[in-house]
Amino acid sequence: MSEIVKLIEAAAAARANAYAPYSRFAVGAAIRAEDGSLHVGANVENAAYPQGQCAEASAIGAMIAAGRRRIGEMVVLADGAALCTPCGGCRQRIREFADAGTNIHLCGPEGLRRTITLGELLPFAFGPDNLAAGNGR
Ligand code: THU
Repeated sequence: MSEIVKLIEAAAAARANAYAPYSRFAVGAAIRAEDGSLHVGANVENAAYPQGQCAEASAIGAMIAAGRRRIGEMVVLADGAALCTPCGGCRQRIREFADAGTNIHLCGPEGLRRTITLGELLPFAFGPDNLAAGNGR
């Protein structure tokens, strides 16, 4: 099985466990960290709606908890006619652990729909490098 298919299948399996009783929009995400390890997440909604967490944020949390720090590539998988692109907040979360050239694979239940880079999703991103300049007081 190809590496990308494994990542898609991992995202689909995580999506099956999504907790999305309010939106009924289940999302799964899977990260291949730079060392090759896989980390998955699903969206986790809450009765207090703003407390819900996206699948991407869940997958990043799993990667960090496993001791990894760099995203090699990522899959986001959901159903629906439109591409499920990461929300604005998640683009910034991904930026923390990825580069402009990092591939994000946007998938549906049938498989890969489109691959896009983080730089395309979040151009002119603010990231850790900005702070390295040290312009604070
Ligand atoms: N959602 C994600 O988990 N990832 C995305 O990329 C888009 C949206 C979730 C948040 C919420 O639980 C549901 O999908 C509807 O917005």
